[in-house]
Amino acid sequence: MFEFLATAAFGLEGMAKSELLALGMPAKAESGGARFEGSIEDAFKANLHLRTADRVQMILAERKTMSFEELFQLVRDIPWEEYLPRDAKFPVSGHCARSQLMSVSDCQAITKKAIVERLKGHYGQEWFDETGNEYAVQVVLHTDVARITINTSGDALNRRGYRTWNGEAPLRETLAAAMVDLSPWRGDTMLHDPCCGTGTILIEAAFKQAQRAPGLTRAFAMETWQLGDKGKYRDIRREAEAAFDTRLIGSISGSDKDPAALELCRRHIRQAGLEGRIIVTEKDLRTLKIEGERVCFITNPPYGERLNDRKTAEKVYRDLGLLQQRHTQSRMCALTAHQGFERFYGKKASKKRRLYNGRLECEYLFF
Ligand SMILES: C[S@@+](CC[C@H](N)C(=O)[O-])C[C@H]1O[C@@H](n2cnc3c(N)ncnc32)[C@H](O)[C@@H]1O
Repeated sequence: MFEFLATAAFGLEGMAKSELLALGMPAKAESGGARFEGSIEDAFKANLHLRTADRVQMILAERKTMSFEELFQLVRDIPWEEYLPRDAKFPVSGHCARSQLMSVSDCQAITKKAIVERLKGHYGQEWFDETGNEYAVQVVLHTDVARITINTSGDALNRRGYRTWNGEAPLRETLAAAMVDLSPWRGDTMLHDPCCGTGTILIEAAFKQAQRAPGLTRAFAMETWQLGDKGKYRDIRREAEAAFDTRLIGSISGSDKDPAALELCRRHIRQAGLEGRIIVTEKDLRTLKIEGERVCFITNPPYGERLNDRKTAEKVYRDLGLLQQRHTQSRMCALTAHQGFERFYGKKASKKRRLYNGRLECEYLFF
């Protein structure tokens, strides 16, 4: 059994915990993520299935640490030889907050030195070329407690493998997945994103409905490690593959006025294996009319952060309000960083939740 931390963005820790519970892994939410105990295969399962978490970190040591000497000892006492083979690549990253030890670069250097010291004794060599697989170590000091972890995920879990980078900062997949989970949409009504852009909300909703593990087509750092049973990983992946069924997807659609964004959106849908399951059309939301009774709009309209864009964004909010009025049976869920959203929308939200889009504080509003 090991201890793990599924790191999650501020505001999403409780969701990561609920997801772990649903996977059968008792977890506790804490600032920065959800903590759970389990086997190395459990960590693999978490990497494959978690929709709202950023990474799964394996916790190797955690203790109150007030000096560099104490940090050195803490790290040197970890049996690194059980994790790291002779050729392991072990970059060390760091983070310090509200602690006696606040120099990130010193904490990183000391951690690295202590690992090398330990490995020297075990492998009987002075120098490590680090030409092998990666075991990314992290040293975090928070309120004088040092936590040493290795990253089992590799790339952050929001990288599902379907996105083609387009230079702009799109909505993070983990945040889009959280927006879908927090919305009143339960799959029995239509879901439509009237500002769908590159399609993140639509794809994450379809993944959920199709029981598609978000990490199904990507690899994780831990798959290259000596630790863990590769056969078991293969079985877990096969089970996830078998559960994925696009026929479970109901009515999910999107529209946007920008043809370039839609082109990318269609490519993402194809790359996510969802071709023909999500309908997207070029349409200005001012003239959008969805046929059918009940519809749940989930959207991430422009924020208008730059002064020039502000007026345009405010018009979009007003038009979203009018869109809901045209659809009397609809619900609207909108993520915005604009404090005056409700004023332009023309109505007070019935519920709100604070979320972060990267570092940007946003409100997720429900109408
Ligand atoms: C913040 S982006 C949405 C990003 C999207 N969630 C994604 O994953 O890529 C806002 C989108 O709203 C669209 N938009 C702005 N005004 C619009 C309007 N009047 N009608 C339709 N789409 C509009 C923009 O073209 C842009 O793609």
